[in-house]
This record gives sequence, structure tokens and C-alpha cells, in this order.
Amino acid sequence: MSDANVYKPSIMRIEKITEEAPGVKTFRLVFNDPEEGRSFDFKAGQFAEYSVFGEGECTFCIASSPTRKGYIECTFRQAGRVTSALSDLEEGDTIGFRGPYGNIFPIDEWKGKNLLFIAGGIALPPMRCLIWNCLDLRDRFGDVTILYGARTVDDLVYKHELREWAERPDVRVVTTVDPGGETPDWKGEVGFVPTVLERMAPSSVDTIAIVCGPPIMIKFTFLALAKAGFMPEAIFTTLENRMKCGIGKCGRCNVGPVFVCKDGPVFTFAQIKDLPAEY
Ligand code: FES
Repeated sequence: MSDANVYKPSIMRIEKITEEAPGVKTFRLVFNDPEEGRSFDFKAGQFAEYSVFGEGECTFCIASSPTRKGYIECTFRQAGRVTSALSDLEEGDTIGFRGPYGNIFPIDEWKGKNLLFIAGGIALPPMRCLIWNCLDLRDRFGDVTILYGARTVDDLVYKHELREWAERPDVRVVTTVDPGGETPDWKGEVGFVPTVLERMAPSSVDTIAIVCGPPIMIKFTFLALAKAGFMPEAIFTTLENRMKCGIGKCGRCNVGPVFVCKDGPVFTFAQIKDLPAEY
């Protein structure tokens, strides 16, 4: 792409809309131009800019796996002007799309390792891309464990996929809701993600941990992982929720000297552990 058209969005059509949780939707998007669709490529961890014409742009990760060709998916919570406008769209409508941007999860370096995915709340989408990517290459990895927590049972996103993963013999899924968020028929755990993680007492041997969630969850999960013996280099996260413009223009994504949109969004704990506390 030349510098002249780097900000020009591609046109994508909404092929399917899935309601994930209250105010949370997943769009399946296909390129209007089939040639663009065929040549489009990305890797797990990358993000993109999605625009509603006349309303502006917003930034989210690509939530589908690069191993699934022909479409991409994004999941968003209706939280502001642009996401509200997005939320009003229907199947068949078009949006603008620019990307992919940002760095990636280095899954080629994780061959033979056990994978421990830990996600909280609406932060499952960046993890979902990575989970499907790794499950589509399942024989490259050892044990796969997914720990996912939300405030309430209603707030759990990708419920059908959580069930699908839980039914697989080669994946261990643990779901939890915050105390008070359970329903009478809830069969999962009750407790905050870091607490449940401590109860699980995961082995750090040959294991990569990937953590996505709100800052407070990330902070306490990192502490729990360190207690369990995980080295900072073996813990990965994405700080994509810190981004605004996504393209190095607004200056609002910095954490200390680090610009999430330019240096990330994927970081190891080793890279961010000495940054100001509120990452
Ligand atoms: S998100 Fe705007 S500069 Fe990084």
C-alpha cells in the first residue's frame, strides 16, 4: 500500500451478526472486493480500524483466527458514539476497514509448550483469535487450558464456543463469575480470575501464559502467575484496550515510554512489569 492511500479504508460487508452478551456483538465481515479478500492476511494479536461512515473510527483486535480464511470477525461492546452506530447496523450493511496493524503473538516460538489462556470480561476477543489459531494447529502444542471469567453469567461472551472448547478432550476449560454473578444453575466456578487461578495451581513448567483482561485483573493475575513460578518472559498480554486512534497519532495510548499502538499491542510481562502501575 502506498503512503497516499494508507488511510483509505477497504469496504467490508456485514455477513452475520451474533449477539454475545448484553451490548456485545460479533460482526462477521467479508471484503466487498473478492480480490482484496483473497490477498488479505493477518496474524493473531493484530488489530484494525473499523469505521461507520459519517460517525468515525474505532479500534478493535481481529477476533477470528487467521487460519479461517474468507472472512474476519470483530467483537465490540456498545460504549460510545461509533460503537453505538456500529451496533445499529444490520446484516448486509457496509463499513470501512483498515488494517491489520500492530505486532503479533509469537506462536511459532511456542511449539511443544503447554498453553494457559486467562481472560476476563470483554477481553476474550483478542484471546479467541489466538485460541482458535492454536486449536487449528493443535498438534504443535502440549496441554491447553482456558480460564475465563466475567462479572455475571450473562456477561460471558462466546458462550457457544466455550461449550465447544469444553467438549473437546484436548482442552481444559474453567469458567468463573464474580461472587454474586452466578445463577442457580451455574456449574462453573465462583470467584475472581486471579483467585480461581491460584486455586488451579497451574504448573509453570514448559508453559506459556497469555492474559487478557481489565488492568486490575491483569495486575493480580500476573502476581498469581509469578507466585506459581512463571517467568516474566513466559507471560504474554495484549494492551489493545488502551488504544484510541490505533495509528500513532493521538498520543493517548502511552504507558510510560511505551506506545501501545506502535510498540504492541502484544507484550510480555518482562517488557511491561516496570511501567507505571495502571497498564
Ligand atoms: S492509540 Fe493513538 S497514538 Fe496510540
